[in-house]
Amino acid sequence: MHEDFIAWVEQHRGTQYDLHTDHINPTFVKMLKTIGFDRNYTRGEGCYLWDGAGTKYLDLLTGWGVFMLGRNHPKVRQVLRQVLDAQSPNLVRMDCSILSGLAAEALVRHTPDGLDRVFFCNSGTETVETAIKFSRCATGRQKIIYCEHAFHGLTTGSLAINGAEFFRERFGDLLPHTEAVPFNDLVSLEKALAKQDAAAFILEPIQGKSCELVADGYLAEAQRLCRKAGTLLVVDEVQSGMGRTGKWFCFQHWPEVEPDIICVAKGLSGGFVPVGAVITRPRIMDAVFNSMERCVVHSNTFGQNDLAMAAALASIQVIEEDKLVENADELGRYTMARLAEIGKTCPFVTEVRGKGLMFGIDFARPENSLKLRLAWDMLHKLNFGVFGQMIIIPLLKKHHILTQVAGYHTEVIKFLPPLVATKQDMDWFLQAMQEVLADTQKFPGTAWDTVLGLAKNVVKA
Ligand SMILES: Cc1ncc(COP(=O)(O)O)c(C=O)c1O
Repeated sequence: MHEDFIAWVEQHRGTQYDLHTDHINPTFVKMLKTIGFDRNYTRGEGCYLWDGAGTKYLDLLTGWGVFMLGRNHPKVRQVLRQVLDAQSPNLVRMDCSILSGLAAEALVRHTPDGLDRVFFCNSGTETVETAIKFSRCATGRQKIIYCEHAFHGLTTGSLAINGAEFFRERFGDLLPHTEAVPFNDLVSLEKALAKQDAAAFILEPIQGKSCELVADGYLAEAQRLCRKAGTLLVVDEVQSGMGRTGKWFCFQHWPEVEPDIICVAKGLSGGFVPVGAVITRPRIMDAVFNSMERCVVHSNTFGQNDLAMAAALASIQVIEEDKLVENADELGRYTMARLAEIGKTCPFVTEVRGKGLMFGIDFARPENSLKLRLAWDMLHKLNFGVFGQMIIIPLLKKHHILTQVAGYHTEVIKFLPPLVATKQDMDWFLQAMQEVLADTQKFPGTAWDTVLGLAKNVVKA
């Protein structure tokens, strides 16, 4: 065993891309190198990352939304150290742990009355698998209605309700009895519910792949229609929950909405230990665990582990004490308003949308510039979906801001700043966006050369 484990790891620093090529995912390494994202990050603190050369980066990707408290939050670290040192009786399994009890109690402080039972698991997709099973069991029905363009995870159950063919193709038959409806379309939802055979309607109140938000009034009406049809309303708040949108849960922007099941993960971990939680009503939970024989009929080995529960508890406390929900709301309003103003100066920008600190910028073929339209067409003929690289590559390379396109085959770039970000951080980002968007209008120019070169490479690869 290495006495100084960190020193031993540091001795190997720099070999990670070769190791990943040999043993993990060479195609991913190739992609990183192609776009210049192989940065050899060595440290993370708060909203920032540092690479081996000491360059500081603003992290607006936050590990796909995990680092809501920023990286390595000192209060959560302190709690985790204490739990490790306490040699707690972790995962006894044939007992009830105090930490999971406290974590469940803390979580349901922020949900509507009646949503006070929690099932803990290990990831976002597992919350969705759980919601599917709970809904089917509680209603005795099979069908799950979901939205086009939805993303609920990549295990086979949640993949069956993924709204993009790209993720599903090549993986064979998935869960049967699913039906997609267009997002924000109540008429289609009513039609899908009409046969009264759906166990659940599941949706993200703000879709992660597009930053499309439910329209005002949509969720309340969807809830009414679901109740009428005996269908459970499931909100997937894996990405939008824990304060990200300026409320504890995004559905709470509409006070009359009280879903039957809430899926939470990502930010609940504090960025430390994988965790997911399904929050639901007693009658739903009791339908699943309806006898002593069935008291663990849905379960997992690592759910409720002490480190995950402590990280969750500490994260909830930090979000409460440091008023991070309020910060997400205020800073989100400021940033989106400024970004929309900047967007108006760029003919490629069609919309800035989102809620709180989950927002995106959408690009499309420009209508009022022949030159830029030709450039757009040339690029799209080579490769659809590469345009976003013209934004994210210079954001990283020139402005040291880490971002990513919102999904495959999309022209949306999504930003998920940590909830601890400040106005100064957002000004760093806004200034950078102003420059990057200005550069997209210089055709021919370096930004276009880079992205056209990239599109040709991707075509060849
Ligand atoms: C809304 C939503 N649901 C589910 C998931 C799946 O979570 P995980 O990657 O932890 O399985 C994600 C992941 O991005 C998500 O955004």
